[in-house]
Amino acid sequence: MQKRSFGQTKEGREVTEYTLVNAQGMTLSVIDLGATIVSITMKGSDGNVYDVVLGYDTPVDYQNNTCYFGAVIGRNANRIDHAHIHLDGKDYSLEANDNENNLHSGSHGFHAVIWDVVQESAQSITFSYVSRDGEQDFPGNMTAKVTYTLDDNGEVAIAYEAVCDQTTVANFTNHAYFNLDGHDSGVIEGQKLELHASYYTPVIDSKAIPTGELAKVAGTPFDFREMKEIGRDIEADDTQLRYAGGYDHNYALDKADGTMQLAARARGAKSGICMDVYTDCVGIQLYTGNFITPQTGKGGVQYGKRHAFCLETQYFPNAVNEKNFKSPVLKAGDTYRSVTKYCFGLEK
Ligand code: BGC
Repeated sequence: MQKRSFGQTKEGREVTEYTLVNAQGMTLSVIDLGATIVSITMKGSDGNVYDVVLGYDTPVDYQNNTCYFGAVIGRNANRIDHAHIHLDGKDYSLEANDNENNLHSGSHGFHAVIWDVVQESAQSITFSYVSRDGEQDFPGNMTAKVTYTLDDNGEVAIAYEAVCDQTTVANFTNHAYFNLDGHDSGVIEGQKLELHASYYTPVIDSKAIPTGELAKVAGTPFDFREMKEIGRDIEADDTQLRYAGGYDHNYALDKADGTMQLAARARGAKSGICMDVYTDCVGIQLYTGNFITPQTGKGGVQYGKRHAFCLETQYFPNAVNEKNFKSPVLKAGDTYRSVTKYCFGLEK
């Protein structure tokens, strides 16, 4: 485990970067601000080192970040309709930070706070954060933990855990933006993706709240059951794609039974790097970076629209309000647990 100063926040708080290195020389670097993944580096088939996630060089850039690059999202990932929830007979209004809706828990979510390190070893690090009753307008005092592990086979595991003293919402994800040809390689349309999902959650309009139905992917541009280039159908004449300017939809994983299942596989177009995603979650948001505005990222690299894709494992969007969707409500005293693994390797 290597440790270094990552600089200071706007408020002058120190941010630390922790780097795990495996036997193959692959690295995973995370900072305590947002328990954020800032880089994942490994060798491609050509022997060159690739950093496969987008990010920034300073804490202030992360604080100004509207894309949530690499951060942990909580208490609730994705959107909540009208920024409103009803729990245990009470109504709660959340921050409306995405039109009239709540996105990724608002501006003071888990991505924006400094987490404590409660365990560190050569292979893993655990961050913890105590979210007070009423923080982000959610009820209850919640203790959340996130453990990152990098093993010698190239597996990056993210394990989430939380308990709360009142009934609340627990639906965490990591918002890494992957580019398997390197964060500095431009658009991801030529990279390939397979998603083990026969259904997805169509949305009402461009504000991206699901209708509540599950729609078949068969015969639509949303079908990734067989590996295809991400860009193959992305410009198809399809209302759902138009709403989001590309893919920004949740997929209902076929084998969602609460145990770890292979959910997705992705491949770089040039690097030879592949990534398999395993999760115990019901859903996965495929977001193709449609709203990445032109901006400067790590090492002065220029990022823009579709320079990365996200595979955010989670409950379906707005599940807290949608009867048809599995509920992300965490009862007082119960423990929320979820694991997602991003397993990296080289194409055979
Ligand atoms: C959402 C996108 C949003 C992005 C950055 C994704 O999880 O689905 O709509 O633009 O996060 O906030």
